[in-house]
Amino acid sequence: MSSVKNQRATEAPPVVPLSSALGADIVGLDLSQHLGDAALQLIRDAWARHLVLRFRGQKLTDLQLERFSARLGPLDRVPPYSPGVKSHVQSDYVTVISNVMENGSPIGDLGDGEALWHTDMSYVEVPPAGSALYALEVPASGGNTGFDNMYLAYETLPADVRHSILALQCKHDITRNSGGGKRSGYEGEYSARGAPGALHPLVRTHPVTGRNALFLGRRRNADIPSLPEKESEELLDQLWAHATSPQFTWHQQWKVGDLVLWDNRCVMHRRDAFDGKERRIMHRTQIGGERPIPAQPAGESTTH
Ligand code: SIN
Repeated sequence: MSSVKNQRATEAPPVVPLSSALGADIVGLDLSQHLGDAALQLIRDAWARHLVLRFRGQKLTDLQLERFSARLGPLDRVPPYSPGVKSHVQSDYVTVISNVMENGSPIGDLGDGEALWHTDMSYVEVPPAGSALYALEVPASGGNTGFDNMYLAYETLPADVRHSILALQCKHDITRNSGGGKRSGYEGEYSARGAPGALHPLVRTHPVTGRNALFLGRRRNADIPSLPEKESEELLDQLWAHATSPQFTWHQQWKVGDLVLWDNRCVMHRRDAFDGKERRIMHRTQIGGERPIPAQPAGESTTH
């Protein structure tokens, strides 16, 4: 990719939708270079519209990954790794997601197993606004990452359900990661009602688009404390079954050099398992967010 391409471009880079649900390719931008204001605005607009953006053919150092991500907002520091992980990345802002072992220790988190549908770090009070995941090594097959449009998930619920969940809050379990592994400090067994984690509105308003999205986080140990436990489980099962319908999703098949940016405020993601004999190394940054804004009844229509 030419190093001067971004500055010289007179035409906006094409934005090519990837599915009817969400996702778009931004073609022809070299993210290792400084982006001008016009390119940055194009990315911001496309991100708000398509929720997940893919930039193929990138060649980025960790510093370049950080610099690009930081143009979209202040970065969150690397969260604590699972016990035993020894990352060699020096940056305070670049997390390694990998199954690769060096000297008997994993160099990153999440291994080679399936990661269930989730929103990154929804178990904290102020979850990240977005994440950028950059592929350095990928397996020949497997390890695809799925994305799920939570605006559509909300908007297509029956009107009575949409209204009945508007004022509810959901507890987001902190004790397990998306691969099912126990987080440091939470080695015990927890019930849905007993597990610690942040309480967030079940429907949140996106601060940029003003649209309402379901905010589910993770299914395991989720709880709606204002409902009897059985009702909470039934409602969450119903919402999860609806929200993860294939028509709201798109799945990324990784190539080395892909950078995928997603909006955690209105997108869930998951990852397929892959052959543990293969290597997968991804570097991730997280763009800091805001406390989720509860959706307001005003402006909600009673039909869809
Ligand atoms: C993640 O769940 O944040 C990682 C997704 C992936 O490894 O593709």
